[in-house]
Amino acid sequence: MTGVAPRFSRITGTGSMLPARRVTNAELAAQLAARGIETSDEWIIERTGIRARHFAAPEQTASDLALEAARHALEAAGRKAGEIDLIIVATSTPDMVFPSTATIVQHKLGVAGCPAFDVQAVCSGFVYALTVADALIRTGSARRSLVIGAEVFSRILDFDDRTTCVLFGDGAGAVVLEASDRPGLLASDLHADGAYRDILCTPGTVSGGRVLGDPTLKMDGPAVFKLAVKVLEESARAVLAKAGRSDTDIDWLIPHQANIRIMQGTARKLKLPLDKLIVTVDEHGNTSAASIPLALDVAMRGGRVRAGDTVMLEGVGGGFTWGAVLLDM
Ligand code: ACO
Repeated sequence: MTGVAPRFSRITGTGSMLPARRVTNAELAAQLAARGIETSDEWIIERTGIRARHFAAPEQTASDLALEAARHALEAAGRKAGEIDLIIVATSTPDMVFPSTATIVQHKLGVAGCPAFDVQAVCSGFVYALTVADALIRTGSARRSLVIGAEVFSRILDFDDRTTCVLFGDGAGAVVLEASDRPGLLASDLHADGAYRDILCTPGTVSGGRVLGDPTLKMDGPAVFKLAVKVLEESARAVLAKAGRSDTDIDWLIPHQANIRIMQGTARKLKLPLDKLIVTVDEHGNTSAASIPLALDVAMRGGRVRAGDTVMLEGVGGGFTWGAVLLDM
């Protein structure tokens, strides 16, 4: 790398971590039935594509999952934690109100000194975090970053609300994003509109030493569905235009894994064959900010996404926030 060459960022390694406990739809339905709430494996599969999700153990935090995902990503990149000069964690289920989960991960990795902070953009968090890391690399503020999405959404679910508790799971995914002479990340497109803050939120907060308001997830599912389908198509087209590419250049589409119907709808609008769509929602459920890096890692390790492939990552979530990143692996 020379001082005058334009600086780009590339993903050099991916990793992920799922908690050991896998909960099938049938198991969850039986637990809900014991509370007098009716749901079924058939309903969940048909409306969402989800078959199972993983739930963290009571003592397992977002930083624990993030740490393991980060270690796997570092190993894949052939890097040591001490070589990392920026850590960003995208999460809506942090270990604490403060400090950030990123500083906790940094300490657990056994390093100190480099900047570490969280990004809060709910299910769009990973595309936001990746864009921030790319920008810091391009300005020369960082050379080797860890970008992580980590969530323990099981902690904020209301298991008396069947319209939400069947949808989410826990997990973490991570990438090492490094400075490079060759472009990896080609373009990104980020948006938010707070007018929609109430259709997907966890409204509670901590005040006066107590939880104030409801600390469980609330969602207007049909409203989220409608908006998600619209903005995912718009953002996909915007990021392609910014990168000077067309939809035929996409080798793989990795959207936020919320609902198979939203994901397939987006692929169809982009005229992408469904076999170019990476799907992990069936086994992971919706892991919010972790879903995209988890799916990317599964696709890399499964040999589907390979070096040189053009990949579109797309996030959408609470805020409302949404965005896309186009990259060459
Ligand atoms: N089991 C059985 N029946 C259910 C369940 C369930 N788990 N949940 C809802 N139903 C019932 C409803 O009560 C309703 O019954 P009714 O007709 O008697 O009133 C019926 O099923 C249909 O409900 P809808 O909400 O209209 O169902 P829909 O087809 O829209 O599916 C879903 C609901 C899956 C939530 C869908 O709207 C969706 O996927 N929305 C987007 C969710 C999403 O992407 N969220 C994450 C965004 S990312 C983030 O930031 C967290």
